[in-house]
Amino acid sequence: MANKPKVVSLFSGCGGLDLGFKKAGYEIIWANDFDRDSVETYKKNIDNRIVLGDITKIPSSEIPKNADVLLGGFPCQGFSVANNKRNVKDKRNFLYKEMLRIIRETQPKFFIAENVKGILSLGNGKVIEMIIKDFNSIGYKVEKPFIINCAYYGVPQFRERVIIMGNRINAPNTFPKITHKNGYKTPIPDFIKPEDYNKLPHVISVKDAIGHLPEPHTEEGKLIPNHIGSKKVSGKYIARKNEVNQAEICDYLKMWRAKAKITTHKIDKILGYRHTAGHWFRKDISGSIPSPKDWAKLKKILGFDDKYDKMVTEVEERKIKFEQSLRVTNWDRPSDTITASVPEIHVNRKRRLTARECAILQSFPDDFIFYGSLSSQHRQIGNAVPPLIGEHLAKTIKKYVVNNNPEKKWEELKMVNTTLFNGVRQLPS
Ligand SMILES: C[S@@+](CC[C@H](N)C(=O)[O-])C[C@H]1O[C@@H](n2cnc3c(N)ncnc32)[C@H](O)[C@@H]1O
Repeated sequence: MANKPKVVSLFSGCGGLDLGFKKAGYEIIWANDFDRDSVETYKKNIDNRIVLGDITKIPSSEIPKNADVLLGGFPCQGFSVANNKRNVKDKRNFLYKEMLRIIRETQPKFFIAENVKGILSLGNGKVIEMIIKDFNSIGYKVEKPFIINCAYYGVPQFRERVIIMGNRINAPNTFPKITHKNGYKTPIPDFIKPEDYNKLPHVISVKDAIGHLPEPHTEEGKLIPNHIGSKKVSGKYIARKNEVNQAEICDYLKMWRAKAKITTHKIDKILGYRHTAGHWFRKDISGSIPSPKDWAKLKKILGFDDKYDKMVTEVEERKIKFEQSLRVTNWDRPSDTITASVPEIHVNRKRRLTARECAILQSFPDDFIFYGSLSSQHRQIGNAVPPLIGEHLAKTIKKYVVNNNPEKKWEELKMVNTTLFNGVRQLPS
């Protein structure tokens, strides 16, 4: 296509999101990141127009104006629920202001920002409200944030992220339709007809995605780029002595919580957590059983009896059996979230996942090569938006981007809905 829609990309990383747009027929005309390895990976796989440098030091006069889409997965460490020190004042939280500045001064038609789920609850929802208001105030219509679970789009990974989308051309902000269904007994999302949902293929398992790979240290394995995995795995772990039925414990805790008339939020507050207790009252895949320490504290709060004490609290030290240790990627379902730090232990090998395995679980193509040390490769891969998600997003908005929508500003700035989160569309996890 001669006239490809043009993309400017901020916080591009190694280019996961951008690769999706490229595959969907867009042209990346400018990109930026300040991480040397990411920039090298980007140059060699996507486009050499990426600029190495700190975005806070780059004037918008150096960035092309009127792009069709501006992408910006602004850094999320400050927002992450995994980061206990997160707070509204974290300097990194304000990197989105750089994105805001560049959007205001270069006027792309659309923008897409990706972030971690923790952004929705940061400052009790005040941060996301502020972000949306800020985008509204520079003339962009922004819908409620969309929580995307990548497994439902054909990525072999349960990875939940928030997508914030806006445009200044009075077009709808549309989000992609799911393409896969969960094989587990989770509720059918309310925005898809059950008959349509049932026709979808199942989510892709780890085994389907990486089961065919030879071992890295074999001759054949060595031929696969980035197929390197750390053999540093700790030899022991603490596990419960007894088998525990999570659904049963969950019902039990729910019953006692109802008796005690207390919310999960209050429990979190008493225990000094922010988003932990909710998991103990959930039966789906995101549910969990309290640790023995939390169980004792919870017992004081809810006043439950001794029925499950032994089962939940008796632990023992075990040698890691590589088939079933605690934090290993499950073979028969999509993997847990691939993070930017040390990867999980392979389900049946005495080593951690290789960079290539992580890349495949993030939907990177086999010929996409990562540069830098092994830990840098893992960081680039774990930070990325799965290219397949980028492609879905790119295709979904393409008709609005290319159909020459009237270039009118979005005038009727609606007040940000204060009940924002009641309306967030969420897929079962
Ligand atoms: C979450 S990652 C983005 C991943 C990317 N969207 C993808 O799909 O691969 C955030 C990126 O922001 C970059 N970054 C953080 N602060 C920056 C700054 N001040 N200037 C430029 N890049 C920055 C980091 O190096 C990192 O690569």
